[in-house]
Amino acid sequence: MKILVVGGGGREHALVWKLAQSPSTSKILCAPGNAGIAEIADCFSVSPEDIPGLVDLAKKEDVDITVVGPEIPLSNGIVDEFIKEGMQIFGPEKKAAELESSKVFAKDFMHKYDIPTAKYKIFSDAENAKKYIHDANSIPCVIKADGLAEGKGVIVARDKETALSAIESIMVERIFGNAGDKIIIEECLDGEEVSILAFTDGKSVYPMLPAQDHKQVYDRDKGPNTGGMGAYCPTPVCTTGLQQKVLEEILIPTVKGVRAEGHNYKGILYAGLMITKSGPKVLEYNVRFGDPEAQPLIKMLETDLVTVIKGIINENLQDIEIKWKEGACVSVVIASGGYPGKYKKNLHIQGLRAVPCNVEVFHAGTSLKDGEIVTAGGRVLNVIAEGSDLNEAVENVYRGIKAIYFENMYYRTDIGRKAIPGSK
Ligand code: AMP
Ligand code: GLY
Repeated sequence: MKILVVGGGGREHALVWKLAQSPSTSKILCAPGNAGIAEIADCFSVSPEDIPGLVDLAKKEDVDITVVGPEIPLSNGIVDEFIKEGMQIFGPEKKAAELESSKVFAKDFMHKYDIPTAKYKIFSDAENAKKYIHDANSIPCVIKADGLAEGKGVIVARDKETALSAIESIMVERIFGNAGDKIIIEECLDGEEVSILAFTDGKSVYPMLPAQDHKQVYDRDKGPNTGGMGAYCPTPVCTTGLQQKVLEEILIPTVKGVRAEGHNYKGILYAGLMITKSGPKVLEYNVRFGDPEAQPLIKMLETDLVTVIKGIINENLQDIEIKWKEGACVSVVIASGGYPGKYKKNLHIQGLRAVPCNVEVFHAGTSLKDGEIVTAGGRVLNVIAEGSDLNEAVENVYRGIKAIYFENMYYRTDIGRKAIPGSK
């Protein structure tokens, strides 16, 4: 079976790595891929946003199944286009992908189907939004641009000034373009954040191990938000009882709600949750694997991923037993110094062959230059290790990182540690 993976980050390297292990896989292609992916897949320089280009590639190369990593092609309807052409593809259709591409749609959907989330108001006019901040007892609050904004469209405002300036930048200066036509102002929730991802074919829903991302750039969750500086699973923050509650109160009602709207949700459903005193509440939906959560989750998946994907496409997921490894897994991002601000590219990466054999490296922003692997983005590498428990996984991963070097490389030293009793 020939499989095409769309994307070129750490998530896609993890997908390619796992799909390559399947006895059903004869060849893996990736568009556009990166230097690490190129070691196990044929890479093609087609952008994930070029849907006609991807359709052509899949036809020309006789691809059997296409697996989509990032959100933009899903929200632009790549799945609908492939299905129209009679080709198999893994992911939700455009209408279902709106759960991620429009926060207004997602909030109204949650309200309609009684799915727990923060209280909210929608504004399509900056003056009304500002008036609400002035008049209502609304601080602290969270301001969210409606559309996709590369994870930067959410501002937690602990004072009026921050809230007003967020409204001004999103709705008046339009720093996210059309994504800021509407905003949500919502109640600020307190608690621990957890990512629960699930496989679903629209009928059955199978949650993965609960995971935790680390969004801020510096240790102890300080500094600006990034795409994610590391993740681990399973997280003890989400107990078995809580996982069941998330399944019953959030994941199943979401999939049923999509069906009630006349669509079938097939693919990965990701609920970004706040575990509040009154239970888990949805902060956001994603309609794909999270990056960096995918890296440890895919490493811990014991079942053949091609079997799971085929089960989802053919809507017989209930016949497949999905198994996870025992223990824990941690993934730490190595970034280029300066990220999420300005950073250098084309820095020579050393030591990739020297990492211990119990450590895996999934590439993100890397490329090949004159036969050497160099940096090509802000998040450069993901270093991943398992352990019999979280403590051991953390020790293994940080031992592994020591082998790698490039100029000005930066990584957090506390990924997963918050969940280890007695650890700082
Ligand atoms: P989102 O993209 O909606 O997940 O938001 C990005 C980040 O903003 C989340 O990971 C949270 O840290 C924070 N956030 C979003 N919504 C809320 C909320 N209602 N209360 C507190 N923090 C929030
Ligand atoms: N880790 C969060 C995301 O993938 O959006």
